[in-house]
Amino acid sequence: MTNYSVVTNDRYRLNYHVMAPSGWINDPNGFSFFKGYYHIFYQYHPESAVWGPMHWGHARSKDLVHWENLPIALFPGDEEDQDGCFSGSAIVKDDRLYLMYTGHNLHDKNNPDDYWQNQNIAVSDDGIHFTKCQDNPVIAEPPTDNAADFRDPKVRFENGKWLVVIGSKDQQGLGRVLQYQSTDLKNWTYVGPLATAESADTQGFVWECPDLFKLAGQDILIMSPQGIKPQELKYRNLFQTIYLLGTVDSATQQLNYHEFRELDHGHDFYAPQSMLAPDGRRILFGWMDMWESDMPEQADGWAGALTFPRELHLNGDKLCMTPVQEIAQLREHLLVDEADLQAKYCFATPTKSVEYLGEFDTTAAVEVKVTDTDDQVLVGLRFDPEKQKLILEKYNDDLPREVAVTKIDDIHLLLDKSSVELFVNNGEVCFSERIYDEKDFYIETSSDAERFSIKAYQLGKGV
Ligand code: FRU
Repeated sequence: MTNYSVVTNDRYRLNYHVMAPSGWINDPNGFSFFKGYYHIFYQYHPESAVWGPMHWGHARSKDLVHWENLPIALFPGDEEDQDGCFSGSAIVKDDRLYLMYTGHNLHDKNNPDDYWQNQNIAVSDDGIHFTKCQDNPVIAEPPTDNAADFRDPKVRFENGKWLVVIGSKDQQGLGRVLQYQSTDLKNWTYVGPLATAESADTQGFVWECPDLFKLAGQDILIMSPQGIKPQELKYRNLFQTIYLLGTVDSATQQLNYHEFRELDHGHDFYAPQSMLAPDGRRILFGWMDMWESDMPEQADGWAGALTFPRELHLNGDKLCMTPVQEIAQLREHLLVDEADLQAKYCFATPTKSVEYLGEFDTTAAVEVKVTDTDDQVLVGLRFDPEKQKLILEKYNDDLPREVAVTKIDDIHLLLDKSSVELFVNNGEVCFSERIYDEKDFYIETSSDAERFSIKAYQLGKGV
């Protein structure tokens, strides 16, 4: 019997972002489309608002914006996943929904650092009830040159076979991604490392939650490395999410890539996962929080949420993210529709559930702030034309996030009670932020642009 955590106060509960009914969540898992529904699962500890033995929580939606909670899909505790069903992915085969996930097992129940990890399969006909496969674990152990870290399988189908990327750490203490292949999802052959960190300090000691896919003819690997040290403007978060863009060499099966780049520059973004929608869009969810950061909602019996789903697209060699167009279905009414603004404009956000679209088309200064009734700036985003930088400041952190840009075309902002997501220049630079403040909020814009325009909608409930 699961003893569910109870939400005791809804002051920070979100209106349209996926959250668990109560308890703790982290990574999005198993993002897929099956029998007319988008499915999203997540790392879930139902019994309290802190991380614990991982289950897979589950929600589904027909339109990516209205979500229905479903029963827990995976419980830990079998021989192969004694201490947790860790992250993984989902694919559809022969009209059934398959989950591939990591079994987490402790050698000594009193020592969380001494573990082994393996890969497992569960299957469902109705997309609600899942049965673990009798052949589990389907990959019992990592290659011999690996450390214990061997997790987060992301499966795809390519050229007539199943391929999976798995997050890893090698025995030298370098993060890397491994590949395996299979024709039946049960018997897997090791292909080799797809990519490996150059050094632990610059690229991480473990690479978690890899996701490899094609977009506009490019191969893209997204993963979440741990242990990267800050470098000038880069890597100012506790942990980062990185993308590598290039080509997988068909002979060596290794990824040749150009640059190691951050996907989201905000404080609260980790372990994202993408899927290919039936209409060909590549859509991604991230965990909108960060390991080891403060989560004041824990006092209320819950913790963690997913980002708003984002569509991925390439602009040159930059991977951009924009909120999925289905957001239009959440718009209740226009709060602001101003085409000819100058200098400054401020408006209140009655339900703290707002979509803001600012058009600037300028190389002059721009600033957008979310403030409260005491003029406290919760999140402030500023374009400094002299420094040619976009600077994000947050109320509870002294280290601004800074990204080089030369002009501001547009800013798209999603506010949802305890979260702010910012998408600049059609999603070329993004920031995901959690904010905790019970006072009322305002959105304040100022700019030296000759003219700018703002549209803002009040958004309804999606969860
Ligand atoms: C990433 C991660 C994964 C792991 C899961 C455990 O945030 O550490 O590597 O599978 O969380 O909950």
